[in-house]
Amino acid sequence: MFSLIRPFIFNIDPEKAHTLAIKSLKYNFVPEKFFKVENEEKLSISLFGKSIKNPIGLAAGFDKSGEVYNQMFKLGFGFVEIGTVTPKKQFGNSKPRIFRLEKDLALINRLGFNNDGSEVVKKRIENNLPTSLLGINIGPNKETADMSEDFLKCAKTFFPLGDYITINISSPNTTGLREFHKKEVLEKLLYKINLIREESNYKKSFLLKISPDIGEKNIDEIINLILKYKINGVILTNTTDNNRENLISSNKIESGGLSGKPLTNLSTNLIKRFYKDLKNKVPIIGVGGVDSGKSAFEKIAAGASALQLYTGMVYEGPMIIKKIKSELIEILNEKGFKNIQEAIGSYSENST
Ligand SMILES: Cc1cc2nc3c(=O)[nH]c(=O)nc-3n(C[C@H](O)[C@H](O)[C@H](O)COP(=O)(O)O)c2cc1C
Repeated sequence: MFSLIRPFIFNIDPEKAHTLAIKSLKYNFVPEKFFKVENEEKLSISLFGKSIKNPIGLAAGFDKSGEVYNQMFKLGFGFVEIGTVTPKKQFGNSKPRIFRLEKDLALINRLGFNNDGSEVVKKRIENNLPTSLLGINIGPNKETADMSEDFLKCAKTFFPLGDYITINISSPNTTGLREFHKKEVLEKLLYKINLIREESNYKKSFLLKISPDIGEKNIDEIINLILKYKINGVILTNTTDNNRENLISSNKIESGGLSGKPLTNLSTNLIKRFYKDLKNKVPIIGVGGVDSGKSAFEKIAAGASALQLYTGMVYEGPMIIKKIKSELIEILNEKGFKNIQEAIGSYSENST
C-alpha cells in the first residue's frame, strides 16, 4: 500500500508530508489489527519499570509536540519518545529544513527544535494519558540566556508526567548544545538535574541522548558521569554532522544532521563501545538506521536493550514496525534465542 502512494508523498516537500502525516494520524482511526504480529510475546521487555510489548520505539523528532503518541502505539510501537520540547514555543530554523536523500535512504534535517513549548505539551499529556511507555525529550530554546536553566525548567515541568525524560545534548542544529558533551559542562548540568531528582527519591528515569560525533576520551568521561549521576539510560545516537563522503544524493551538501542508513554503523559501533562499560548497569537505547529485522538485531546484539527509529518509517511507511518485529522474531528463532532479552549483547559474548 505505502509503495503505491510513496511516489505521491515523495513529490511533496518533506516537511509538508510530515505535517500531513501528523494530521491524518490525529484525525483517522488506526485499525490496530493491521499491525498485529504473531508471537510478539517473544519481544516483550521491561523498560524503566514498565512491561512493554516490544522494544521498537519511535525516536524523538517525529511527534515533537506530543500530538499523536497514542496513535503511534496503535501502529505497533512498544514505546514513543516525544520532543524535543523546549520551555517556550519556537518556530525553528527557516524553511526548507528537511531534505530527502533517496538514493542513500537518508535524511538531512536542520529543524532547530520547532515545537509548541512545554506548557502546551504538558497540558496535552495531562488531557490524553499515554497508553504505553512514553518518553519526553527536552532541550533549550535557541534564544535562551542559559541552556542549563532551560533543561532544568523542562525537567521540572515534565517530572510528574510520562515514564522517562531524555536530556538531549546532541542535536547538531542548536548552536552550542553539543558543548554539553564536555566533562565540566555536563557534570554541572547533571549535578543540578540530580537536585530535582533527589527531592523525589530518584523516582523518575532520566536518560542522556548522545551525539555519534564524539571521540574516545569524551566517551570515557561521559560513561563515568552517567554512572556517577545515576543516569537511568543512554540513547545512542542522534544524527551525525559527518559521514558525507560516500553519499550519492545531490542533497548531501545541505547542512544539518544526517539520519538513516549512513548512520547505521556509526551508532552500532558506539553501542558496542558503551555496552562494554555499562553492561548490566545502564540500559542502552539504540537508534540510527534501523529499518529491518537484521539492522534491529545488530543493535540488540551490540548491547541495546531497546531501539528507536524515524527515517526508516519515512522510506517504508508505518508497516515497517510490523516488518521489523516479524523479521526480528524469525532471527531469534534461527539463532536459538528464546526471547529478545537473551540476545542483548550477544555479539560481545560471542566475540570475547
Ligand atoms: C526530521 C528529524 C527530526 C528530528 N528531531 C529530533 C529532535 O527534536 N530531538 C532529538 O533528540 N532527535 C531528533 N531527531 C533524531 C532522531 O531521534 C534519531 O536520533 C535519528 O534520526 C537517527 O535515527 P533514524 O536513523 O532512525 O532516523 C530527528 C530526526 C529527524 C530525521
